[in-house]
Amino acid sequence: MRHFLADDDLSPAEQARVLDLAAELKRAPYDAKPLAGPRTVAMIFDKQTLRTQASFAAGIAELGGYPMLVDGALAGIGVRESVHDVARVLGRQAAMIVWRTYAQSRLEEMAEHAGVPVVNALTDDFHPCQLLADLLTIREHKQRLAGLTVAFVGDGACNMGNSWLLAGATAGLHVRVSSPDGYAPEAAMVERAAAIAATTGGSATLEPDPVAAVTGADVVVTDTWISMGKEEEAAARAAVFAPYSLTAELLGRATPDAIVLHCLPAYRGKEIDAEVLDGPRSVVWDEAENRRHAQKAILSFLLEAR
Ligand code: NVA
Repeated sequence: MRHFLADDDLSPAEQARVLDLAAELKRAPYDAKPLAGPRTVAMIFDKQTLRTQASFAAGIAELGGYPMLVDGALAGIGVRESVHDVARVLGRQAAMIVWRTYAQSRLEEMAEHAGVPVVNALTDDFHPCQLLADLLTIREHKQRLAGLTVAFVGDGACNMGNSWLLAGATAGLHVRVSSPDGYAPEAAMVERAAAIAATTGGSATLEPDPVAAVTGADVVVTDTWISMGKEEEAAARAAVFAPYSLTAELLGRATPDAIVLHCLPAYRGKEIDAEVLDGPRSVVWDEAENRRHAQKAILSFLLEAR
């Protein structure tokens, strides 16, 4: 039984296969029906969502399946009943489970007991479905992945910072994460990525200076400074992160044809200037669309790998 709980659950060859499949599914969205029946995919959200719910629901329908929305607040997973019991119940109703939640350990417990593939739709630690969409988007705009340099500027200690390290290293990218003091990814995460990068020709490094990080980058990425669950730290974070704002001036340090990614939701004037997000280098709307294609590919891959 395969699950997709963290970016490095896919080997470099598997990640490339999933991205190839995503591109194929994008070309012919209605041809492949691996969920015909329709088979049910349970989607559970313990945190807010727009893109993830919409892209999974649309994608599951396109694969011939039925997207069953399970309200995390109503289910009270881990409160009303244990993760273990919920896993056993949902595993009897659904062919797969897609879950957005807080601790990675909750997702791991679900995967251990569900008896069906479990997919991470964002946890505090990782957002691997987003990274598949991001890699697909880079491939579309740059025609390659391995060897490109990506600068992630902002909150490196959040799910997106970690996922960029692992997924980027898997793809053979040179990933530079630039964060203020106290907001860098953990050393263990950088080491985990560096070990993968050693096999793919990529690299994973921390560069606290945002100008140095962006200089010469092919892809520049940022994310909100206030991830879901960190709302009470908003004021303190705004001050610390201000020098890491992705402005037109900072983007000017990247290669002339650099592209800009942001997983959204975006806060213009905070982590990214409106002229960058809405400007010619931004590919964020392609990136948002690609969630559907990439997720259809990972669901198809996991179904086949069973
Ligand atoms: N780091 C952000 C990603 C949102 C898609 C968060 O966790 O809120």
